[in-house]
Amino acid sequence: MIENTDFAEINLELPPPEEESARQYYFIEKCRRWVKKESEELGRPLMACTVTFGCQMNSRDSEKLLGILKQIGYEETDDEHADFVLYNTCTVRENANKRVYGRLGYLNTLKKKNPHMMIALCGCMMQEAEVVEKIRKSYRFVDIVFGTHNIFKLAELLYRRFEERRMVVDVWKGAERIVEDLPVERKYPFKSGVNIMFGCNNFCSYCIVPYVRGRERSRRPEDIIGEIRRLVADGVVEVMLLGQNVNSYGKNLDEPVTFAQLLEQVSQIPGLERIRFMTSHPRDLSDDLIRVMASSPKICRHLHLPVQSGSSRILKEMNRHYTKEQYLELVDKIRKAIPDISLTTDIIVGFPGETEEDFLETMDVVEKVRYDSAFTFIYSKRTGTPAAGMENQVPEDVVKDRFDRLLRRVQEISAEVCGRDVHTVQEVLAEEPDSHLEGYLTGRMDNNTIVHFPGDISLIGKIADVYLEESRGFYYMGRLARTN
Ligand code: 5AD
Ligand code: SF4
Repeated sequence: MIENTDFAEINLELPPPEEESARQYYFIEKCRRWVKKESEELGRPLMACTVTFGCQMNSRDSEKLLGILKQIGYEETDDEHADFVLYNTCTVRENANKRVYGRLGYLNTLKKKNPHMMIALCGCMMQEAEVVEKIRKSYRFVDIVFGTHNIFKLAELLYRRFEERRMVVDVWKGAERIVEDLPVERKYPFKSGVNIMFGCNNFCSYCIVPYVRGRERSRRPEDIIGEIRRLVADGVVEVMLLGQNVNSYGKNLDEPVTFAQLLEQVSQIPGLERIRFMTSHPRDLSDDLIRVMASSPKICRHLHLPVQSGSSRILKEMNRHYTKEQYLELVDKIRKAIPDISLTTDIIVGFPGETEEDFLETMDVVEKVRYDSAFTFIYSKRTGTPAAGMENQVPEDVVKDRFDRLLRRVQEISAEVCGRDVHTVQEVLAEEPDSHLEGYLTGRMDNNTIVHFPGDISLIGKIADVYLEESRGFYYMGRLARTN
């Protein structure tokens, strides 16, 4: 989905331009010639595979990375037997890091068989100095390492790798720059993530994100609106506005704008049918936001509102800035204003010092709120965060037992709650052919619940009225009522 860049106009005899996006198109063109030559010699196209770990932010970054790779001339594949393999990593929990190291061992065996293969690593894990050190020392077959602040530079780094013929490492700390207008290859033609801000200033005591993604930086509203307008012109009907904490959007702009104001502007874009956003910190969810959500039919009836723990004492230790009571009051207020809202959450079990009583407070929040779904995590100690130095780390078997109890209850409630719309007609955005049932499509309701229904693939990307015949716990089976 590239915007009219005329590559013929790029003069490669000149030094690279100063302006960042022009500079990157210059390097894209340089790499393009290299890839073309290589592929002519091999008598086949060069293939690129990107593997994404972690959150929606990473998925969006991967679309940008793939956009650059496709411009360079690589063809996309999801097979790691490729000429260029890129891992976009996550480091929120220790397990994510372990998985990457494990898979790198496997990539090394593939690389021994294919001398043309290049391996690139980027994302949050690369923002950690110890990780980069380990890769330099023990994973010397890796070709390019870069972080979260300079993904727009992929072509330049790749070109350096072609020229220098040794590992290129380029990781920035705390970069402020936001580079607009580079190519993007969307996974779905009809829906897209849109970054509205980067980084996080909250410093929850267990979380590594502020250290790896840096301080909060908001994009200017006119850049966001411009991007969404172009996406809509290109067939997008649903956007997901992305930020670690969208509620603090715009506070640091030269002309401050609130998230509620941004949402109002986005909801006026003609042709855009659905707006989602993620994630909202309960600490600063404003009344204005609730009002805008309640009044705009385009904004999906779904809020992801991570509670993390139900114990006010633990919440304080987590540096979350709200108590159990304040959280429950907020939920009440939201439900009064938007009765059909679907609520989801994140919960951490086994934070240092968590007692059985603390855990029961979390179970109590789960009982009271009755979430549509909850992502449950076992606390993972992240070096460099304040919680990593706390005493009273909870023994593994105790955590595991609590985790199992929580998960069971969350799933039971979820199955009851998710079925509440059975025997009604709901708007469903048809997303893809059903992977199990021939002739069926899979789509999503406005509140994010999945629906399977018989339908033709021509409906993909369109919103259809679907009668929900049967609830199967976390999803519905339905049939077309009519197409809008
Ligand atoms: N351990 C476990 N879960 C974590 N999360 C963030 N940091 C940690 C950690 N150290 C969870 C939080 C957050 C979600 C994205 O990941 O619940 O909301
Ligand atoms: Fe991490 Fe807290 Fe920021 Fe979320 S709000 S990214 S949990 S520090």
